[in-house]
Order: sequence, then structure tokens, then C-alpha cells
Amino acid sequence: MGNVILIGFMGSGKTTVGLRLSYRLRRTVIDTDKEIEKEEKRTISDIFATDGEAYFRDRETDCLRRLLNGTTNQIISVGGGLPLREENRTLLGELGQVFYLCASAETIYERVKHDTSRPLLQGDDPKSKIERMIKERDDRYRAAADVVIDVNNKDFEQILCEIGEHVR
Ligand code: S3P
Repeated sequence: MGNVILIGFMGSGKTTVGLRLSYRLRRTVIDTDKEIEKEEKRTISDIFATDGEAYFRDRETDCLRRLLNGTTNQIISVGGGLPLREENRTLLGELGQVFYLCASAETIYERVKHDTSRPLLQGDDPKSKIERMIKERDDRYRAAADVVIDVNNKDFEQILCEIGEHVR
């Protein structure tokens, strides 16, 4: 389907990289979190609080299926937990070329420490939580990816160049 797909942990830069890439490649950008919020007419935090994470995960799979129904040559940035489900990894592979923006727990913590919009990062000791979640998730991000981009200590220009070198 020729799409460029960005995956990675919360705060790895998917949204910003997606926007910049869309200018550069002259393709529109779609964000699965935003698609779900539009569809549900409420925020991700509200969905988690009212219906729970399992409900949200099902909406992610629905969203991918909708995108597979005709989305071509676009940039798609996906929620950090979306590639964890095996079915979703298969759907991502059908949808396009998958780039994993790989960031360390330190990089992520610095970017998200003041953020209140991500329900999974609230609570005590977010730093340890981030470390633990990255460890749990990294294998599955790699399994979903065609290309891994190390984003630590790089500015957006460098990251865009590296992605550009690999885009088919
Ligand atoms: C999540 C990541 C979030 C959002 C939700 C759950 C996760 O998206 O989908 O809060 O499980 O990693 P971003 O990666 O865009 O923050």
C-alpha cells in the first residue's frame, strides 16, 4: 500500500517526525490516536478512564483495518502500544514500510516528564515504569519494523535524513 509507518514508544517523536516527513515527502499524515479520538468523539484519557485499555486496543485494530481499506502513499504514525498485538503487526506489514523510532528510557523520560495526556505514564516513579515498559516492548517493536532508526541524541533533521535514505 506504499505507506510510511512510524512506530515506537510514547515520546519517541512519531508525531513530530510524521508531520515533518509529510512536508518533505508531500504526503498527508494520519495519526491512529487522533483517528480514534475523532471516531469516539473523546480523548484517549477519557477512553481509558471510562472503557479501559482493552477497549482502546480493540479500537486500534479497527482503525488499522479501516486504513487498510484504501490508504495508500501516506505517512501513518501509530500509538505506542499498537504494534504489541500480533494481529496489528501483521496489518502494519500489509499497510506499508514500518520504521521503528528507537529511544532510550532517558530520552523518553526527558520528553514526557511533564505530560499528563498519556494515562499509562501517570502515577509514581514514571522513570522506572518507562524503563520496564521499553524492555517489555522492544522485541515486538523490532519484530514489526522494516527499519530501526536510533533517535537518541539526534535532531529531527538527522532523523528525517535517515528515514529518507530508506524510504522505498
Ligand atoms: C500508548 C501510547 C499513546 C496512546 C495511549 C497508549 C501506549 O500514543 O495510544 O496513551 O500504550 O504506548 P503515543 O505513542 O502517540 O503517545
